[in-house]
Amino acid sequence: MQDGVEVVPSGAALGADVVGVDLAAAIDPGTFRAIEDAWHQHLVLRFRGQRLDDDALAAFSRNFGDLDMAPTGRGGTPFNPARPEIAVLSNIVVDGRRMGSLGNDELVWHQDMTYNPVPPKASLLYGLEVPPHGGETHFYNLYRAFDALPEDLARRIHGLDCKHDATRSSNGELRAGYEASYSNEDRPGAVHPLVLRHPATGRLALCVGRRPGAWIVGYADADSDRLLDEIWDHIHSHAFTWSQEWQVGDLVIWDNRCTLHRRDRLDPATRRMMHRTQVRDLHGPFAGWN
Ligand code: OGA
Ligand code: MN
Repeated sequence: MQDGVEVVPSGAALGADVVGVDLAAAIDPGTFRAIEDAWHQHLVLRFRGQRLDDDALAAFSRNFGDLDMAPTGRGGTPFNPARPEIAVLSNIVVDGRRMGSLGNDELVWHQDMTYNPVPPKASLLYGLEVPPHGGETHFYNLYRAFDALPEDLARRIHGLDCKHDATRSSNGELRAGYEASYSNEDRPGAVHPLVLRHPATGRLALCVGRRPGAWIVGYADADSDRLLDEIWDHIHSHAFTWSQEWQVGDLVIWDNRCTLHRRDRLDPATRRMMHRTQVRDLHGPFAGWN
């Protein structure tokens, strides 16, 4: 491991800072292994004071695996067609053109891109321009949510699958090419087990994507809504959280298989510009709890 690299846990239910590492430089295998171990243990890692262009962000991200393409925006194209693996999240508008996706909107608790059959295992979000107030990203530990399930609820969700809505973004915006509404059976999306076994840690985690548009496969609408509300009430009743207050140069990586994240609506008078990569999960579709 590179001399002076240190992992400092947040003290909350997840999250740690990794200090003493320059992500724009090549990472030696020993240091990378230490970073990956810390990531499996703490689920979200923050590296402060980085200076990353898109090449360096992509190069560091590739230590974790091949990159997935960024989700397409409202127009069905990436924000930077020359770099389709870089997602641009921003509320900045220049001459009426949006410089990134998701604008000032609130983002509800979600996992990234679970509407795909193989969702990314990791997302790496880098702060290029951050607001003086607001714009925190809140994270949630889904292992802890599973571990804290009341026995009766755990028994009832054992073996169930959930469909994750592909038609809308985490801000509720309709994606290009989809209808405004669907029945639960017809809604495009991907099906995953409600409880997954993490391929690296072997631990069980709730896998809920996000609440809007979710459906317990095979359930009548009302029964599905009732059970999902019960699961989400359980999630909300525990503060298994840690909040990232952004500084320019922060790089945050989260494990998309065992965490949720959200943010409040941004103050439209502030500017925020973030670049993100997402790492393909070579383990394939999520394995369930059996
Ligand atoms: C994301 C995301 C939250 C934020 O990058 O996937 O949801 O605070 N970002 O911008
Ligand atoms: Mn997200």
